[in-house]
Order: sequence, then C-alpha cells, then structure tokens
Amino acid sequence: VAARPSGRVCAAAPRAIRRAAVKVEAHKVAVLGAGGGIGQPLSLLLKMNRLVSELSLYDVANVAGVAADLSHCNTPTQVKGFTGADELAGALKGAELVVIPAGVPRKPGMTRDDLFNINAGIVKTLVEACAQHCPGAILNIISNPVNSTVPIAAEVLKKAGVYDKRKVMGVTTLDVVRANTFIAEAKGLDTRDVDVPVIGGHAGETILPLISQTTPKVLPWFTKEEIEKLTVRIQNAGTEVVEAKAGAGSATLSMAYAAARMAESVLLGLEGEQGIVECTFVESDVHPDFQYFASKVVLGRNGVESFLPLGPLSEFEQEGLVKMKDLLQKNIQTGVEFANKA
Ligand code: NAI
Repeated sequence: VAARPSGRVCAAAPRAIRRAAVKVEAHKVAVLGAGGGIGQPLSLLLKMNRLVSELSLYDVANVAGVAADLSHCNTPTQVKGFTGADELAGALKGAELVVIPAGVPRKPGMTRDDLFNINAGIVKTLVEACAQHCPGAILNIISNPVNSTVPIAAEVLKKAGVYDKRKVMGVTTLDVVRANTFIAEAKGLDTRDVDVPVIGGHAGETILPLISQTTPKVLPWFTKEEIEKLTVRIQNAGTEVVEAKAGAGSATLSMAYAAARMAESVLLGLEGEQGIVECTFVESDVHPDFQYFASKVVLGRNGVESFLPLGPLSEFEQEGLVKMKDLLQKNIQTGVEFANKA
C-alpha cells in the first residue's frame, strides 16, 4: 500500500481548499461526552470538516449550549444536541462514526487504570446503546483506560451479536502526534513532515514509539541515550499535561486535534480514498502475545481493511515489547472480565 503521510485535519487546510466544490458523501458523526474538555474542541473541529454533514452532540450535561454555540458557525455541518439517556437513541440513529470521549479524566498522581471503575461502566452503557441504535457504526474510543475500554466495547458488541473487529478502534493518535512533535523539534524539522509509528497500547510502558522507523530519516541520528529519553517523554507526555494543569484535567486540546485527525482518516476510508494509514488500538493478529494491539492499519470502507507489518525493530524497541507484555495483557483481561461479569 502506498501510504500517504498519515493524518490531515481538514480544519487546518487552506480556506481555498475547504471551500472547493469537492463532491463528498454525507456522513453523520456522533460525539458522546461532547460537553467535556475534549468533546467541545473536538466538536468544533468536526463542525469545520467538510466530510461531516451531521454532528450529534451527546452528553449527560451541558451539551445544549455547546450545540447552540457551534450551530452558529457558518459551515454546512448540521449540529444537534442530545442530553441524557432518553435522548441517546436520537443521537446515534444513522451515525456512521461514533467518537467516545465520555468519562472522567486523570488528576495529578493518577494512572489511567485509576479511571477504570468509573469509565468502564460509562463505556459499557454507551456501547450497548450503539449496538442497539447504530450497530454498523465505527467506534473511536478515547475514554481511558483505552487498553481496557476497547476490549469492553468489543465484548459488549459480541454479546449483542453485532461485533465487527474492523470497526472498534482505540484512539492512540495523540501518542503519534506527540512523537512526531517531539522528534521534529529535537531535529529542527517541520512537525508536519515527521511520521513516527507508535505501537502497543495507550498507557505508560505499553506506549512504544518506533523511533527507528521515523520518516524522514535524519542525520546525525539520535544517540542511544537520546532515544531512551525521547521514548520516556512520549510515554509520559500525558502526565506532563496532567501535572501542568494541576488538577484541572488531562490533555484536551491536543487530544481533540488528534481525535479529529483520526475521525477524518476514518471518514476518508469510508469515502474509499486509498492509502489512509493510522496507528490504532484494535483486535489484531499483528503480535501473537496480544489480542488487542496498536499498530499501523489501512483504513477503508469497512474500517480496518488490513494491517501493516511491524517492520524491523531496534533492540531497544524489541525490549520495549517484552517489557509491556504483562501490563498490556492484564489491561486487556481486566476489560474482557468486566464486560462479561453478570
Ligand atoms: P471531561 O470530564 O472534561 O469530559 C467528560 C465528559 O463526559 C463530561 O462532559 C461528562 O459530562 C461526560 N460524561 C460523563 N458520563 C457520561 C455518560 N454516561 N454519557 C455521556 N457523557 C458522559 O474529560 P475529558 O478531559 O474530556 O476526558 C475524557 C476522557 O478522555 C477521559 O477518560 C480521559 O482519560 C480520556 N483521554 C484519552 C486520551 C487518549 O489519548 N485516548 C487523551 C486524553 C484524555
């Protein structure tokens, strides 16, 4: 597959391109948790995306105002707000893509796993509603811990008899966005030109940037120490933001940017555009130790069309894969067990 440099956010495109009379199909996208720190800026970016004809904003609180506010932007996307469980079905009916940032974010000192008790139940309930009201939709799950919420979603859909493993994706795009930014900055490159695959999962050591596969290749290449330092920074970048926000939540704006990029890639895949590649955490055969795994996939009309091979890993990256094994397997198992308990 001739992959294009992954991820393009339409909203960032020059005005002339955004206004060009390009014929695209109409796509309905639902955002669940749309009133939150991620949900609001993500909804703005989706409102600016020519691929989104209808945008459903759902939350348990605070979403009517967000919908009214966004609806005044003079872009063609129709925006509607849906508040509370009684209105969830309306938000989901006809949605082809459901993006889920609902739940609680981290505070300083918390790991993503600490969010499990609250977010697992929220994701389970929302995905049950998706199974009922938009069973063929692609799900982009942002709510943490992604390593567990994706298996929860899969199990819920299996129980409902509507699971298609090509369509349930954990959003790990922010890890790629961060890796691209940090590596470009370290080498004085344009951040938009750099592409670093990030594999594994989305928590601590399970986040494994494949710095050895960075494109373009830059010289002089990083030293071993520099690579170790960059890897740790990418793995802990979420915590960097949590600490800087000092109790006011976790990454929201960069996450919205990353989620908008992922949503656009999914929609371009639905449009039949070729060579759309993103890293995402999905049910996968790419690595024999992990039932779910983040790696580069090709997106198409049915979601994940194929997996790109992991490619050659450096010794340090191979060690990283071994190091993440226990944690990632445990995270996955925790999700599966939660979804299947009575
Ligand atoms: P937030 O607290 O600002 O917003 C969450 C929203 O979800 C709120 O508006 C809340 O009312 C809503 N909500 C709660 N229960 C709900 C339910 N049952 N149905 C619908 N909506 C519900 O949190 P923020 O900062 O937007 O983060 C959301 C999630 O995204 C967190 O779990 C966070 O850990 C995760 N996250 C994931 C990242 C990733 O890379 N995948 C990066 C950053 C955050």
